[in-house]
Amino acid sequence: MPHQTIIPILFTLVILLLFKSPPPAAAAAAAAGGCYTSIFSFGDSISDTGNFIATGAYNPICNSPYGETFFHHPTGRASDGRLIIDFIAEGAGLPYLAPYLQGEKKHQDFKKGINFAVVGATALKTDFFQSKGITLPMTNYSLSIQLQWFKQLLPSLCSSDSECKNMIGNALFLMGGIGGNDYYNAFIDGRSVEEIRTFVPFVINAISSAITAVIELGARTLLVPGGVAFGCIPGYLDLYQSSNPEDYDQETGCIKWLNEFSEFHDSLLRNELELLQQLHPHATIIYAGYYEAMVAILQSPEQYGFESPLVACCGNGGYYNYNKSCVCGEVCSTVCNDPSKHFSWDGLHLTEAAYKIIATSLIQGKYTSPPITHTCFLGTNIEQFSSTFSM
Ligand SMILES: *[C@@H]1O[C@H](CO)[C@@H](O)[C@H](O)[C@H]1NC(C)=O
Ligand SMILES: *[C@@H]1O[C@H](CO)[C@@H](O)[C@H](O)[C@H]1NC(C)=O
Repeated sequence: MPHQTIIPILFTLVILLLFKSPPPAAAAAAAAGGCYTSIFSFGDSISDTGNFIATGAYNPICNSPYGETFFHHPTGRASDGRLIIDFIAEGAGLPYLAPYLQGEKKHQDFKKGINFAVVGATALKTDFFQSKGITLPMTNYSLSIQLQWFKQLLPSLCSSDSECKNMIGNALFLMGGIGGNDYYNAFIDGRSVEEIRTFVPFVINAISSAITAVIELGARTLLVPGGVAFGCIPGYLDLYQSSNPEDYDQETGCIKWLNEFSEFHDSLLRNELELLQQLHPHATIIYAGYYEAMVAILQSPEQYGFESPLVACCGNGGYYNYNKSCVCGEVCSTVCNDPSKHFSWDGLHLTEAAYKIIATSLIQGKYTSPPITHTCFLGTNIEQFSSTFSM
């Protein structure tokens, strides 16, 4: 072999060997069982793991059959089992997030994560809806209130500025999903999509302010979900039933103009996140495309074992098994035999099976930008996830 070719071959070999072992930081993280020492979550019913139920206010989500698949009793989660945030916690090797309103005494785990998300919460404060004459949200615990809770709690979590910065810097922040109720309340109030589009910049601004606030407190890793695919939600499909086939996406059966609204929210959110990323280069702001993840499942539901994916598992009849006069959790409703074959749980929220697929793809870096560092999720359930779902 001529001398000139040996050098490049050796060089290639060295490079290959270098890259075969993980970079030291990633290896250390994996050994430690994850990169994050805690998770803080803000949002609405997509992430609430027990705050609303702790308020004692009435909502059918506090009744059976909610929770029947995994926890075997209602926990205040708006699903039959675990939510995206539960799977993220599992993947990060951390306990399920303790709901803030259930109180510190009940939980030894506040230092490993706290959930401030509340069913029905809006990004905007109540006075915004008041000024528009829109039916008020079912809860006043908007994003800014949730942020206040976090700030009030901090002194009990860390005792000095540097200790707090360190704890917050090593945490994963889930900033949402939030905003869905800001729009939903207006849609069910009969407002036009043109009017509701004018709310979007205000919603994005509220999310942006919350992100800035936690970054100023020291947050370094933030996962910011976009909106859900409104056009694929049975509650919306029922509300806007149309005899015009042009209104529906041929492939998924979702309502096109509603999904365009979701895309509009997401495009404004992504622009804002880019801006925030430039302003805060030391933080990593990750966009999580819940919309893209949902639509991808609905484009090939059979691949995931979902039959009639736009029909809710729990409800009271109608084309989408969603009836706003008799929703899941009320005595007049019925539940399907096998929620794992359903995408939609109650016509407004997804099943544990659907949330698991979405969480798994996010953890694997899909639909996230920049991709989540999936080494942070090694050593726990990710192998299990990957073998269950080949994606
Ligand atoms: C929200 O706040 C307003 C004004 O303080 C109050 O009148 C209302 O009862 C509150 N609603 C809920 C659901 O807490
Ligand atoms: C919806 O529920 C109400 C109350 O139970 C019932 O009267 C009505 O017939 C239902 N609508 C459909 C379409 O099933």
